Amino acid sequence: MNLPVRLRLFVGREDALGWLDSAAQDPGVVVVQAVHGLGGIGKSTLVARWAATHRDQHRPIWWITADSPAALDAGLVALTVALQPALAALPSPSLREWAVRWLACHDGWLLILDNVTDPAHIADLVGRLPGGRILVTSRRATGWPDIVTPLRLDVLEPGQAVALLTAIVSQGGGVIDPAGAAALCVELGHLPLAVEQAGAYLAQTRTSVGDYLRLLAQHPAAMYRDGEEGRAAERTIARVWQVTLDALADDPLPGRLLRALAWYAPEAVPRSLWHHLGDGAGEPAVTRAVGRLAAYNMLSIDPATRAVTVHRLVQAVARTPDPDDPHRQPDDITTARTAATIALTTALPDDWRDPTTWPTWRTLVPHVDVLVSQTRAHATDSDRVAQAHLLNATSLFLLDQGNLPHAIAYLKQALADRRRVLGNDHPDTLASVNNLAGAYDSAGDLG
Ligand SMILES: Nc1ncnc2c1ncn2[C@@H]1O[C@H](COP(=O)(O)OP(=O)(O)O)[C@@H](O)[C@H]1O
Ligand SMILES: [Mg+2]
Repeated sequence: MNLPVRLRLFVGREDALGWLDSAAQDPGVVVVQAVHGLGGIGKSTLVARWAATHRDQHRPIWWITADSPAALDAGLVALTVALQPALAALPSPSLREWAVRWLACHDGWLLILDNVTDPAHIADLVGRLPGGRILVTSRRATGWPDIVTPLRLDVLEPGQAVALLTAIVSQGGGVIDPAGAAALCVELGHLPLAVEQAGAYLAQTRTSVGDYLRLLAQHPAAMYRDGEEGRAAERTIARVWQVTLDALADDPLPGRLLRALAWYAPEAVPRSLWHHLGDGAGEPAVTRAVGRLAAYNMLSIDPATRAVTVHRLVQAVARTPDPDDPHRQPDDITTARTAATIALTTALPDDWRDPTTWPTWRTLVPHVDVLVSQTRAHATDSDRVAQAHLLNATSLFLLDQGNLPHAIAYLKQALADRRRVLGNDHPDTLASVNNLAGAYDSAGDLG
């Protein structure tokens, strides 16, 4: 079982859990999805809770963050390595295939595909698996095949949100009056993620609810009536974020770290990567800043591996410049993206042929994917040059693994960026041309 979600406090959701129980009587795929794409509403938490309470009925329970085809593949590779550690030195495509075959000829397992962005990404896999059980979470409401049973999840009921807030505050040794708690939960739209972060703030700072509401009021309110609800969730989190980062502003490092972490995949940022994000601040200072962010629930740290998870809604806010928010100044966001690129480049192993480095490579490739795709919309010339280097290095690993389509996509991107910024005759551009030709050669596609 590899559930990444911490299940310290859990409130409500009786209906949804009961619904999952009865859906589990029939074989098939169950999709858990949120109403109108709201992030932070509790999809992953619900599924993790259900899996944990049914752990005796399933073996294994395997969690995959499946927000892209590459992430899905990485999760299947990790499943094989967990089931058969001796196979870890095989290249990734073989490990992926081994996992699919294992699942196809066993039953009793539970596979959780978290945060699927497109039903087409999982169609092949689902089609190959007759036994077992698959739970999917997604913000997508439509486009699922007929075999999929959807469940819609809404924000918490007011009483549940208040119970969550009260529990977090009192766990931190604070007290909160019921009327204040109810008013604050209304202000936060009963969004679990926002309630959790506000509760952590109250517990850490011992601020009164009245004062906290005043701090929130200084920032533009989330308007549930205007526009999509997904946007409203983002506005809610942006206000909580600003108040929290104000409290942490005695040290610039926590804000800097959070802005940089926003460019990686949300889950499993290994310590070997995040400890490079201090920009000269030294490892103890970085560790302390990460610990402070965790105390305010802006991220969570896996106690065993020290890997960091940042909710994708918090990441989305942290990547969006806002001239009115001192913690999201456009220049700071550009700087954070550069820092994220440099840290990732530094964290890559030097040698891609040595099988002992492969586990490290495999933990880092998902972050390369997300960094590069999130940067596209904003890339400056220096982003392009720095990321071309990152793509090139990663493609050597992917090529060696026999993962040609992924490697070729990276090499093409690196070549296009180098052409554009450095020109056709620059040695790095020519090296990219060579690498791409070599990759096509091994693909047997000389076109
Ligand atoms: N039923 C619940 N009880 C307590 N906390 C919850 C509940 N649902 C969600 N949360 C908290 O809210 C945050 C967002 O939930 P998450 O499951 O990650 O949302 P989603 O997957 O829909 O984006 C998490 O940190 C989680 O701990
Ligand atoms: Mg989720």
